Amino acid sequence: MGPLPAPSCTQRITWKGLLLTASLLNFWNPPTTAEVTIEAQPPKVSEGKDVLLLVHNLPQNLPGYFWYKGEMTDLYHYIISYIVDGKIIIYGPAYSGRETVYSNASLLIQNVTRKDAGTYTLHIIKRGDETREEIRHFTFTLYYGPDLPRIYPSFTYYRSGENLDLSCFTESNPPAEYFWTINGKFQQSGQKLFIPQITRNHSGLYACSVHNSATGKEISKSMTVKVSGPCHGDLTESQS
Ligand SMILES: *[C@@H]1O[C@H](CO)[C@@H](O)[C@H](O)[C@H]1NC(C)=O
Ligand SMILES: *[C@@H]1O[C@H](CO)[C@@H](O)[C@H](O)[C@H]1NC(C)=O
Ligand SMILES: *[C@@H]1O[C@H](CO)[C@@H](O)[C@H](O)[C@H]1NC(C)=O
Repeated sequence: MGPLPAPSCTQRITWKGLLLTASLLNFWNPPTTAEVTIEAQPPKVSEGKDVLLLVHNLPQNLPGYFWYKGEMTDLYHYIISYIVDGKIIIYGPAYSGRETVYSNASLLIQNVTRKDAGTYTLHIIKRGDETREEIRHFTFTLYYGPDLPRIYPSFTYYRSGENLDLSCFTESNPPAEYFWTINGKFQQSGQKLFIPQITRNHSGLYACSVHNSATGKEISKSMTVKVSGPCHGDLTESQS
């Protein structure tokens, strides 16, 4: 094998830079460059389960951390804090009784509900000549539902010639997919079912089914629609 090719200019600079960085590291204790990040563990949480908001790259030697529900760091939104000196935990007005803060700043929320979903704010106080602080937001997503759907309007008696205009609603995150069946047969997808000028043969069992792809849950609500003949009596009256 021949001699190694001479290192290119960039390689030399990189190598010099590396040496310089190494020597600086020996003398100085550079500030932590890694960003503080928050991660939900597990990443997908459903109602009634526990979630840990894991804090990564927490700087060393901090006096304390504060957790808030929402984006604001005021007293009203204050959940819990950890004061490193004395290992003191202080509870705020937004504390639900299900939160635990650890010495590493991570926040455990037990038995999560829909109200727990949303933004959380971690407020870190740093030691130094002057008080320095850092604020991190994290949005916690909760997958839930769909709940038992409701069909509007809920009345079941129609007259021939009227329009059938039904809407179906459910609570779900992510939003549910909707579809309608009539007497067990697929009719159409979507939240609304509109049939103009119904006749007697439109009587039957109407069902709205809702499905959440994240939770895998599907649930249906049905109602009976009865269509009677046109209102001859009224016609006779108005003619007389
Ligand atoms: C912080 O502490 C909790 C509870 O002891 C633990 O589950 C979690 O892994 C810790 N977080 C980190 C980033 O080490
Ligand atoms: C979880 O919360 C629900 C509703 O708040 C409650 O009914 C249930 O008992 C709780 N479960 C546990 C294990 O704490
Ligand atoms: C219902 O009756 C109408 C006429 O009144 C007819 O055109 C239609 O095909 C019928 N539909 C069914 C499903 O039988």
